[in-house]
Amino acid sequence: MNVLVIGGGAREHALCRALSLDSDVSALHCAPGNAGIADTAKLHAVDALDGEAVADLAVRLEADLVIVGPEAPLVAGVADAVRARGIDCFGPSREAAELEGSKAFAKDVMAAAGVPTARSYVCTTPAEVDEALDAFGAPYVVKDDGLAAGKGVVVTDDLEAARAHANACERVVIEEYLDGPEVSLFAVTDGETVVPLQPAQDFKRALDADEGPNTGGMGAYSPLPWADPKLVEEVERTVLQPTVDELRRRGTPFSGLLYAGLAITSRGVRVIEFNARFGDPETQVVLARLKTPLAGLLRAAANGTLAAFPALRWSEGAAVTVVIASHNYPDTPRTGDPITGLETVAEKDEHAYVLHAGTKLDADGRVVSAGGRVLSVTATGSHLGKARERAYRAVERITLDGSHHRMDIAAKVAEAAVAAENPAG
Ligand code: AMP
Ligand code: GLY
Repeated sequence: MNVLVIGGGAREHALCRALSLDSDVSALHCAPGNAGIADTAKLHAVDALDGEAVADLAVRLEADLVIVGPEAPLVAGVADAVRARGIDCFGPSREAAELEGSKAFAKDVMAAAGVPTARSYVCTTPAEVDEALDAFGAPYVVKDDGLAAGKGVVVTDDLEAARAHANACERVVIEEYLDGPEVSLFAVTDGETVVPLQPAQDFKRALDADEGPNTGGMGAYSPLPWADPKLVEEVERTVLQPTVDELRRRGTPFSGLLYAGLAITSRGVRVIEFNARFGDPETQVVLARLKTPLAGLLRAAANGTLAAFPALRWSEGAAVTVVIASHNYPDTPRTGDPITGLETVAEKDEHAYVLHAGTKLDADGRVVSAGGRVLSVTATGSHLGKARERAYRAVERITLDGSHHRMDIAAKVAEAAVAAENPAG
């Protein structure tokens, strides 16, 4: 199979890595890619938001399958443009991608499908904003209606800050605060059949102990030993399948990756948000554990044959990823700083590897930072403690001036697992 991946982040690097390990994949292309993806896929320049340009590239490369990674091209209709040329494409149509592109649309679909989520108001005027903030009380949850790369959401006890964010957006969703741990659950779907993957947890805040501003995600782990073993089945039944059924009923079937961001509250599971693509950095740990070859699974979703696809196989072990971010991220990041130590990880760490996000080669052929989240250092192990130790050992080998990363990714869960095994201490 000849596969073209669109995008150039750590998620696309994780996808390309998994595809490169799949014996059914005979040629692997990525556009635009990044300095790390160049090791596994042939890179091509393309404007990923230009559907016709992506479709032209897919035709020229004779791709059998195109996988669209990020949300912005999906919301721009890139998957539709590829499918219009008769090429299988993994990723929802422009209309179905509105599930991520508009929080108000997602709320409407959830209401129609009976999917449990936070109560909410859509507001467009300061008066409506004040009324909604007053109705729910603190902590306030204020979400920009449109795409904002994980940074459009403000959760705060400060009424003035909540009001300021709301009034800076054209249209906002203000909603009830959900307590409890968060889970990311992905499902591959062809618009009818839903195949859930294994759950993961993301660390959204910039600093240790969940302090600091929201980011795109600073690290992740999988599996979740603390989660109810029936969680996946429950979410499939109460969230994923009803949502896919509702979108099909509306004449805008969703095929691709349905990502449910969930809160496990004291009153049950609630959807925090939907995304229309693989999550980053959760994909890095979920794919690290998937044993089923990836290309066939994604192609079955793209061509509507998931019902006949065999059950997925998973590694019993664990995976942890730690994101190394640029100086000043999530504010405007500094870029162009050299990155060293990548070869040492490749040489010395058998169970760890570095997935590139914002990197590029400079004029001298050195790998330099080129974005906010720069690297996603991923490791596997028989249990979370092992995977975590290996990931951090690899992180320590890497230098990037001014960079920062969290030290507590999967720390609590790894400690809890040790305590459970040694109850006497
Ligand atoms: P979102 O972009 O909707 O995923 O929101 C980003 C982050 O804000 C989530 O991962 C949560 O940590 C937090 N958040 C969003 N909605 C809520 C809510 N209703 N209650 C509590 N926290 C929330
Ligand atoms: N990990 C959060 C996201 O992909 O949106």
